[in-house]
Amino acid sequence: MAKIIAGIAASHVPAIGVAVDRGMTGTPYWQPLFKGYEPAREWLAKLAPDVAIIVYNDHANALSLELIPTFLIGVADSFPIADEGFGRRPVPEVRGCAPLAWHLAESLILDEFDMTIANEMPVDHGLTVPLSITCGQPPAWPFRVIPLCVNVVQYPPPTGARCFKLGQAIRRAVEKFDEDLRVVIYGTGGMSHQLQGERAGFINRQFDTAFLDGMTKDPLALTKITHTEYMREAGSEGIEMVMWHVMRGALDEDVAEVYRHYHVPASNTAAAVLVLENRSAP
Ligand SMILES: [Fe+2]
Repeated sequence: MAKIIAGIAASHVPAIGVAVDRGMTGTPYWQPLFKGYEPAREWLAKLAPDVAIIVYNDHANALSLELIPTFLIGVADSFPIADEGFGRRPVPEVRGCAPLAWHLAESLILDEFDMTIANEMPVDHGLTVPLSITCGQPPAWPFRVIPLCVNVVQYPPPTGARCFKLGQAIRRAVEKFDEDLRVVIYGTGGMSHQLQGERAGFINRQFDTAFLDGMTKDPLALTKITHTEYMREAGSEGIEMVMWHVMRGALDEDVAEVYRHYHVPASNTAAAVLVLENRSAP
């Protein structure tokens, strides 16, 4: 039987990918951020999962703004790296896990989540930056990946509560898959940031800290945060944090917080990595 053993929340700030790709991670600006990623990287290398489900949002790269699925799952054997206007990131192609992805698609749809199915799809920084943060620069990514996109770009995005329930459905589906696979799930995006308007550069450390605490201790309370509250407390792009709820919903009620790292600023964003392990994990 397949099993979800751990969850990772990670910001996916595009500038973090640029710093990796251009060899700038040791510069005075970036070093404190990247130093903080090392324990998470060591933990993941030791855990050696078979598959990662990466919950992220496409930034109008695979999907134009003419077509906006609320939830989408990638079922291909591989996913090319998107060209986001500056050429492709020099990172390995992403290997998919079609058998588990198709099983998830079927199980989630029968469980009343209307997933869009992507047979072919380039993946952008929303997915590749969390891989860089947690895996470094290997010649090939060390596990297979199932991309799962959530719309947080065009109003209305799904609620945190709906995302949490999707996570619970993902867990039920994974546990019905026959092959013995050890699966991790990523929730990406955030933390507080605003890229536009009068409050551009807005960061709210207090909100972010409470959110990180709540992810471990009381995730259901966090699912009650409304879209308006996200906008007010975490900035106009802080809504990305609903994707963390998908990850959290897929874990045990009682989890162990293995590691957290919070850093301000990464570009104009508050960046974090949070590692949670299922206490029931083998
Ligand atoms: Fe994003």
